[in-house]
Amino acid sequence: NTARDLTGRHVVVSAGGTREPIDPVRFIGNRSSGLQGYALARTALARGARVTLVAANVALPDPAGADVVPVGSAREMREAVLKAAADADAVVMAAAVADFRPSGYEDMKIKKTAGAEPAPIRLVENPDILAEVVRASRAVGARHQVVVGFAAETNDVLENGRQKLARKGCDLLVVNEVGERLTFGAPDNAAVILSADGAAVDVPRGSKDALADVVWDLVAARLV
Ligand code: C5P
Repeated sequence: NTARDLTGRHVVVSAGGTREPIDPVRFIGNRSSGLQGYALARTALARGARVTLVAANVALPDPAGADVVPVGSAREMREAVLKAAADADAVVMAAAVADFRPSGYEDMKIKKTAGAEPAPIRLVENPDILAEVVRASRAVGARHQVVVGFAAETNDVLENGRQKLARKGCDLLVVNEVGERLTFGAPDNAAVILSADGAAVDVPRGSKDALADVVWDLVAARLV
């Protein structure tokens, strides 16, 4: 796509996967590589947008021209995304954000004690960043904003996607099927993009850049 249809627009993209610390050396993480989020950033830049890329634990080179904000945990990502979203025209949450984090943090590395049971790790819920972005963008007097969520599903992809779209209240939801060897870290992706008005766009397996361009087509059509 060579259109410069995002010129003058500010878009925020989250990428990668959050890490929820347990102690100074351990965390709960996930398999997200950041490739899809970086593809979204690159393609938006190519289409003329100013891009803030909030990157959680991504080992990829910064896309030239993007304002990259590195974060670790979901709470750090929340802060960076909400700040950048304040003047954004579109927010695309491609990151895999941990739904839960350990309720406490041990200042010193947890040690094993011979013969003793390991201490359980209790979890508490993380803030839902996407839901907060939607809430802020729907507030009276808020600037018009197109909000896009991602849903990684391992089963009943469409049905779970529709429910998630309704629950999150975003404009578009990119639903893809994931598995240990599917999507995560892979150069290609396939998805169904659901929109709040009931439409569904099937994106056949192809490059993550190709999927990103379809997302921006749908976003651009919804910008005012
Ligand atoms: O509910 P689920 O985690 O499947 O939702 C996925 C979508 O919600 C993604 O766009 C993800 O970036 C976003 N999310 C979020 N904050 C969370 C959990 C998910 O923004 N705590």
